[in-house]
Amino acid sequence: MDIDNWIAAVLALRKAKRVVVFTGAGISAESGIPTFRDADGFWQRFPPELYATWNGLLTTVVTQPLSVAEFVLNVIEPVAKAEPNSGHQAIVRMEQRVKTTVITQNIDGLHQSAGSSEVLEVHGSLLEVSDTSAGKLVRRFERKDLMRIADCLHQYTSKKQSAETLILELQQQYPFDWMGRHRPNVVLFGDGLPEAVWAKACEAVEECDVLLSVGTSGAVYPAAMLPDNAKAAGTLVVTIDPQPRSGCWLEGDAGTVLPKLIHDTFEIQN
Ligand code: APR
Repeated sequence: MDIDNWIAAVLALRKAKRVVVFTGAGISAESGIPTFRDADGFWQRFPPELYATWNGLLTTVVTQPLSVAEFVLNVIEPVAKAEPNSGHQAIVRMEQRVKTTVITQNIDGLHQSAGSSEVLEVHGSLLEVSDTSAGKLVRRFERKDLMRIADCLHQYTSKKQSAETLILELQQQYPFDWMGRHRPNVVLFGDGLPEAVWAKACEAVEECDVLLSVGTSGAVYPAAMLPDNAKAAGTLVVTIDPQPRSGCWLEGDAGTVLPKLIHDTFEIQN
């Protein structure tokens, strides 16, 4: 850990009037949700061209229904079982000391479950179903609802039940619309970001004094431009990641670094 970076981050957070925490899959890794691009990442097992667009999914479900069921199971089950970790909880403690806006690329709802009050989900939420034609929320799931859907998918992928039975069972758990308008409220490749959320995220980045970038590869735009925007505005960007990063990089896992950073900043006075 670079001590100069650590001191710069602590001093900047102590003076800050508003902090943005920009998070990616890495902050949820310690809650059991796989990241996308690490060696054991999600896209290594499920190629994005087949699974990360609605067209790809609709094509694959016709040709390889079992693999789509396995993909969906691998997406929802870890989220259904996940609980916030010490990284999520440290951000909630920081919110009690300085105005904090969380901008997350994650769809797992763990920042809200931890107690963060302002969370901007720029890639949507797996815990919501929206009507894509009416542009309105149709259903909000709890984690136990996702677990029931995962159980149905387990029965099918383990070949204990037919596809017909799976559809009948899923109709009990999910607000199906046979026109395909009711979809999980998540942003796939090629989709636009939710405009109002994106506008708020850009505004928060403009106004913040420090931006903590936690657990993101910065591979996907436009979300990945937010730290760049902060840097261009002269804001200190502190990157927390076990992999080397340029600038003010604090090496380590979010669940270890964030609690210590918040402790050294707000809970000990020199
Ligand atoms: N703590 C902090 N960072 C971690 C941890 C951890 N415990 N474990 C892994 N990381 C880091 C990795 O080193 C990597 O930099 O988290 C990052 C994860 O990068 P990605 O897997 O690319 O995830 P993310 O940046 O969130 O992806 C952005 O891509 O596929 C799309 O829509 C998807 O929102 C996602 C977007």
